[in-house]
Amino acid sequence: MRGSEKTYKIITFGCQMNEHDSENIGGMLEAAGYAEADSPDVADVVVMNTCSVREHADKRFFGMLGQFKKRKEEDPDFIMCVCGCMPQQPRIIREIREHFAWTDIVFGTQTIGDFPELLRKRIETGKKQFSIVDNSQEIPEEQGAKRLYKFKALINITYGCNNFCTYCIVPYTRGREKSRTIEDVVKEARALADDGVVEVMLLGQNVNSFRDPNGGSFADLIREINDIPGIRRIRFMTSHPKDISPELIACYRDCDKLCKQIHLPVQSGSDRILKRMNRHYDRERYLGVVKDLRRVCPDIAISTDIIVGFPGETEEDFRDTLSLVDQVGYDSAFTFIYSKREGTPAAMFPDQVPEDVKHARLIELNEHINAGALRKNQTYVGKTYEVLCEGRSTKNDGAWAGRTDDFKLVNFQGGRDVTGRMVDVEITSAKTFSLDGRLV
Ligand code: SAH
Ligand code: SF4
Ligand code: F3S
Repeated sequence: MRGSEKTYKIITFGCQMNEHDSENIGGMLEAAGYAEADSPDVADVVVMNTCSVREHADKRFFGMLGQFKKRKEEDPDFIMCVCGCMPQQPRIIREIREHFAWTDIVFGTQTIGDFPELLRKRIETGKKQFSIVDNSQEIPEEQGAKRLYKFKALINITYGCNNFCTYCIVPYTRGREKSRTIEDVVKEARALADDGVVEVMLLGQNVNSFRDPNGGSFADLIREINDIPGIRRIRFMTSHPKDISPELIACYRDCDKLCKQIHLPVQSGSDRILKRMNRHYDRERYLGVVKDLRRVCPDIAISTDIIVGFPGETEEDFRDTLSLVDQVGYDSAFTFIYSKREGTPAAMFPDQVPEDVKHARLIELNEHINAGALRKNQTYVGKTYEVLCEGRSTKNDGAWAGRTDDFKLVNFQGGRDVTGRMVDVEITSAKTFSLDGRLV
């Protein structure tokens, strides 16, 4: 009965891979008899699942970790855990050992499965537990995740990344790319469907380079999931433009459950910068992929990631990014100021862009993106769309919130609770980041 009244809280940063890892960690803690606490301030076990994709993340992480020191001093039974991408870097481990030595358990992105054992040992021996490996060959077993939603689920299909974009820390924190088998993923998706899941999001740093070790491509996987009764929507992220195959594009024609939406990070519109980023495509190739997608699926929603101020980015390179944004007409975009990551090649590039220039470019880029997004959203007004209701709107005005097939966030009025259901919503007005509507 150990731990039967104990509680936990997980604090998650970063991408959806981390979000799903946290769901798995939550599942492990519940299996060990812990219940979720309302706040980290009252939890017996706190897990910080960290991200290190940008530099300010380091400062935020140590700042937040430091806040638990007092708690630890007051209550020696309190257990502080750190996991995710931060501790995959040796300098972070050094910093934890030197300045945050009161931290109880530290594990990495590839040793999540060890967590229950680390926790047990910490409780039984009182000793600190560290478990980090650089590049595990093993595929973690996926089971027992404590899902954030009953009706939609995240499914890992690949782990790690082999692309080594010159700005990016992820290949160093997540190790080499590994794919699960189609059989394994389909089994998980079937079990989720049996449990009431209607929407699955297939996850990986580069899902379209998925390759079943026994043979079979990402397109084959989508086709198999498309055949699972109960599943009504299939999404995936992230796709690398260099690996979009004709077979995958054909899925948009053939698979009725594949959502009319793709996240296709472009990073820059300048060929010179794309080359220095080691992205393995140029502007023309990217625009070709967009064209091919729109040929089979004319109203596909396209979103992207863009970095401004990459080392050596000139005003002309930046203009190329703006013109590409206008040419594609994105539905939305995550935009980032280039952030120097120690250990990545671009951190050593000599021609770093000054901070004020980077900031000015970000503002200008966002203006382009937002204007385009609003224009696109306005075309939805007056039409009716099927929306999967996710629960109460965060607007707190009694509205409900959900997503269309093409991932538009819709806040809608309409009395009864339809959470987890597909409902028809008429769009009444458009904003930059969302749509308003009413249940029909
Ligand atoms: N695997 C995905 C996403 C990885 S991280 C992909 O390849 O698209 C998510 C986004 O963070 C990236 O697409 C990139 O735009 C941004 N990013 C990564 N490293 C960065 C850095 N050092 N500075 C600024 N943005 C970065
Ligand atoms: Fe990072 Fe590039 Fe891999 Fe994406 S594809 S995770 S940006 S190295
Ligand atoms: Fe961050 Fe790691 Fe994801 S660095 S973006 S949590 S893979």
